[in-house]
Amino acid sequence: MTDAAATQPSNAAFTPRVFSGIQPSGDLHLGNYLGALKRFADAQNQGIETVYCMVDQHAITVWQDPAELRRSTRELAAGFIASGIDPAKSILFNQSQVAEHAQLAWVFNCVARMGWMQRMTQWKDKAGKNQQNASLGLFAYPSLMAADILLYHATHVPVGEDQKQHLELTRDIATKFNNDFGVDFFPITEPVITGTATRVMSLRDGAKKMSKSDPSDASRINMTDDADTIAKKIRKAKSDADALPSEAKGLEERAEARNLVNIYAAMADMSVDAVLAEVGGKQFSEFKPMLAELAVEKLAPISAEMARLMQHEDEIDAILRAGADRARAIAAPILQKTYDIVGMIR
Ligand code: TYM
Repeated sequence: MTDAAATQPSNAAFTPRVFSGIQPSGDLHLGNYLGALKRFADAQNQGIETVYCMVDQHAITVWQDPAELRRSTRELAAGFIASGIDPAKSILFNQSQVAEHAQLAWVFNCVARMGWMQRMTQWKDKAGKNQQNASLGLFAYPSLMAADILLYHATHVPVGEDQKQHLELTRDIATKFNNDFGVDFFPITEPVITGTATRVMSLRDGAKKMSKSDPSDASRINMTDDADTIAKKIRKAKSDADALPSEAKGLEERAEARNLVNIYAAMADMSVDAVLAEVGGKQFSEFKPMLAELAVEKLAPISAEMARLMQHEDEIDAILRAGADRARAIAAPILQKTYDIVGMIR
């Protein structure tokens, strides 16, 4: 992935292992695909050990309808598999099946400080003005996330830009635990936020992140959208009246144009400069159909495969159970060792 971990002396003893998670709390969108799933598949195909989790315990920090949570978890599993995550190569499971996540999170609740949590922008955004009415789980969310990662001694965590602060907190928790107990037990995990699509923006507003919570469905491409819907949303995406520049510098003040070019680059596995070398000088009336065609070519087979897999819920559940067994085999000894370090009798 990167050799950054090699530069961290305290990480030298840890075998490279990738961990990442996605919440099963509604429709997967293009931001999740380009910022996470596609990169998860790339990491898997580099031959590194990869562990991917559907974080259902994170999802319930805000209200989830139980039937809908079950459906979303299965649909997310289908999304992982359809995006190229092979359950034989990667460990794929849902968080609540591996109790060690919640157990380590409790230890970390006692390591992390209130002030650290209060500074989290996602907490402030999600709790809004009425923090007193937010769940305790929402406040402690980043501590559970640190547990997800450190329970596997993960060295690398591919995520989108919006998770950067949580990963810094994970490093703070690992560092404080190691210092408090005088050990070198938890790695100082490297966030991996690379590529052109670590912050895919709304199709309606280049200043806003593409998000499942945006009330406008036209603002995002859902992984379950059919070919016509994908093409229509791209045709209607906000752009501007100028021709595309031939260098990335020319996109600096053009948020919507930059977003559409970034999306094209990520989907085509090209650099922004290479894309602009091809499309520089074109108007959006010409570029948008190219983007729509590429998006349909890449996404339509994924959404078709998700729909097919969703016909076989039992198979999905079996994959998640088998993944949880493999995850537990790594997690249980690390939790036990943590308990030993903390001074708990077993
Ligand atoms: P979540 O479920 O909100 O998002 C899953 C992944 O998708 C990325 N992402 C985006 N990337 C680019 N552009 C966007 N518009 C966009 N929107 C979402 C996110 O950055 C993320 O990588 N807290 C995490 C889940 C989590 C986790 C973990 C991640 C729990 N434990 C341990 C890594 C490691 C979250 O809510 O992601």
